[in-house]
Amino acid sequence: MARLNRLLDHRDYVTYQETIDQLEKNRQFCKHGFDHGISVARIAYTYILEQGSRALSKEVVYAAAFLHDIGRWMEYQSGEDHAEASAELALPILEDCEFKQEEITIILKGIREHRQHSAVGLSILGNALALADNWARDCRHCPAQKECHKYNQVMRLITY
Ligand SMILES: [Fe+2]
Ligand SMILES: [Fe+2]
Repeated sequence: MARLNRLLDHRDYVTYQETIDQLEKNRQFCKHGFDHGISVARIAYTYILEQGSRALSKEVVYAAAFLHDIGRWMEYQSGEDHAEASAELALPILEDCEFKQEEITIILKGIREHRQHSAVGLSILGNALALADNWARDCRHCPAQKECHKYNQVMRLITY
């Protein structure tokens, strides 16, 4: 997991994460700090293993999860879609951490797909990230349920 630990210490990753933490300080809805990334990583990887797939390494899944929302600050500032922004910001970080080109292609595709919940034709990683993104949240006890556009009754249930 050496490359993952390099990623977490990468100057750009740290800067983006700190910027997001700052911009979300007073946000009433879900935040996107490190805890969200690690939760999505663990859930997405578990889900992929449950599906019986051994096609993706733990490092690839975790890297995608850590990076899937790093473009959030750009969405807050310019309105740009954060899935696309995150993929663009992730590329040089993954290269610096010596992920291989074929791994980078899979990770960037997964990041770009992570908001396309239940769309058909998603990659294994994109589908797992989209599911884990919701499962990583405690919607049942969230005080912002009424105002949240993502909240629905199904989110109160264990469905997996
Ligand atoms: Fe996201
Ligand atoms: Fe997310």
